[in-house]
Amino acid sequence: MTDTAKQDRVLIFDTTLRDGEQSPGATMTHDEKLEIAAMLDEMGVDIIEAGFPIASEGDFAAVSDIAKQTQNAVICGLARAKTLDIDRCWEAVKHARRPRIHTFIGTSPLHRAIPNLSKDEMAEVIHDTVTHARNLCDNVQWSPMDATRTEFDYLCRVIEIAIKAGATTINIPDTVGYTAPKESAALIRRLIETIPGADEVVFATHCHNDLGMATANALAAVDAGARQIECTINGLGERAGNTALEEVVMALKVRNDIMPYRTGIDTTKIMNISRRVAAVSGFPVQYNKAIVGKNAFAHESGIHQDGMLKNAQTFEIMRPEDVGLSETSLVMGKHSGRAALRSKLENLGYTLGDNQLKDVFTRFKELADRKKEVYDDDLIALMRDSSSDEGHGRIQVKFLRVICGTEKPQSADLTLSIDGVDHQVTRTGDGPVDATFNAVKALFPHEARLQLYQVHAVTEGTDAQATVSVRMEENGKIVTGQSSDTDTVVASAKAYVNALNRLLVRREKTRPDDARATV
Ligand code: KIV
Ligand code: ZN
Repeated sequence: MTDTAKQDRVLIFDTTLRDGEQSPGATMTHDEKLEIAAMLDEMGVDIIEAGFPIASEGDFAAVSDIAKQTQNAVICGLARAKTLDIDRCWEAVKHARRPRIHTFIGTSPLHRAIPNLSKDEMAEVIHDTVTHARNLCDNVQWSPMDATRTEFDYLCRVIEIAIKAGATTINIPDTVGYTAPKESAALIRRLIETIPGADEVVFATHCHNDLGMATANALAAVDAGARQIECTINGLGERAGNTALEEVVMALKVRNDIMPYRTGIDTTKIMNISRRVAAVSGFPVQYNKAIVGKNAFAHESGIHQDGMLKNAQTFEIMRPEDVGLSETSLVMGKHSGRAALRSKLENLGYTLGDNQLKDVFTRFKELADRKKEVYDDDLIALMRDSSSDEGHGRIQVKFLRVICGTEKPQSADLTLSIDGVDHQVTRTGDGPVDATFNAVKALFPHEARLQLYQVHAVTEGTDAQATVSVRMEENGKIVTGQSSDTDTVVASAKAYVNALNRLLVRREKTRPDDARATV
């Protein structure tokens, strides 16, 4: 590769499975993490941050299994500036063809106050921990957390220490989403100009989206010399999330005239992974989200449609195919066969084994019986439900009938199978969903608090399926459940039960109290 080509190449570091999964309620199962990691690898992500191995047995197992399965990408694990964390991280990533340890410590005045370390004491910790990591692994990333609110001189000092101790990538996190594009660029430029040895390492940008500037800040940092962008699919992440992978990648592609940098991403894989991450995280993509929102390529107003028919470029700066979006079409009906379903699902990015296809085909037929026209989005919802623990969890919805209308109270007659035994109850409530949820609670008493109840229509029309998302919290553990059905109340009951099943799994998992609190 020529020097110029090297300079133009921007590495994509995906942290959907670490920073993204840390978002309250976005917890993914082990298999879901492995599946997302495989999709990231296939789409050409350079580095996958697979988790935080010290945080729990589950995180450790996910990072080490992802390390074992990944063909191309570097597999990175996160570790606090503690020997124990770094050792645990290495134990998990060492199976990878290309492992990386990412260690960090908060360097801003506010973050230094937490462990109550003086500047000198913290500098020593950084030296020792990066040296320790480098003795284990020759690919070490170091992050001064809250870098954008750290005194510039101190930031230079600690970065120089980390480089001398062997860090190969220096990541500059805007942990609280506070910076702005001009400042983001100026900081990276000044750091690279000031720090001895800066040209020997890769500078990375890690932006949070609290002020809606994460993508702009990341691109500004690249213009100033950063060559690694840390990002997540759909911008998933704590609070307002992280830089969205699809946004930076497509911005660099579409505006390559003014941002002449390349990534290794196959952009046609964007839509499928976006849908999959939305499904497994339980965080639906907002309709008008850039690149992957449902409306991102929709042209409804008359004037737009007229322009589009004459020349697509009138209102379109990129083609739907560039992000892997096939034209939404009426796909199938009740006469469609198994082979047609398999081929349609393959187009949508799902490869099914024979048994899974059999299961999905049965559900497809049930849906096609209730709904004349089955669209791509219906199939995606169906796939999400089949791969969730619905049907496999300890609790299952067996029967539901509600009485609703203008007469109060509304009531729900519900049968749940709990650990293989059927239980029946009738409960009333303020509306059919409330009555149903009261019935679930009567059959399976619990203290979990309902934090969110959300309904989305999957497609248009009065026979459209509704996707219901439910988020619940119990002792600080947050889980989400989702389900789709042409009957909104049935979807609600199944989403609630799906969340409860996930809560039961979470109850069994242990996690050190402070492991996540500091990130
Ligand atoms: O936002 C942040 O500072 C982080 C670090 C752990 C890199 O996620
Ligand atoms: Zn972060």
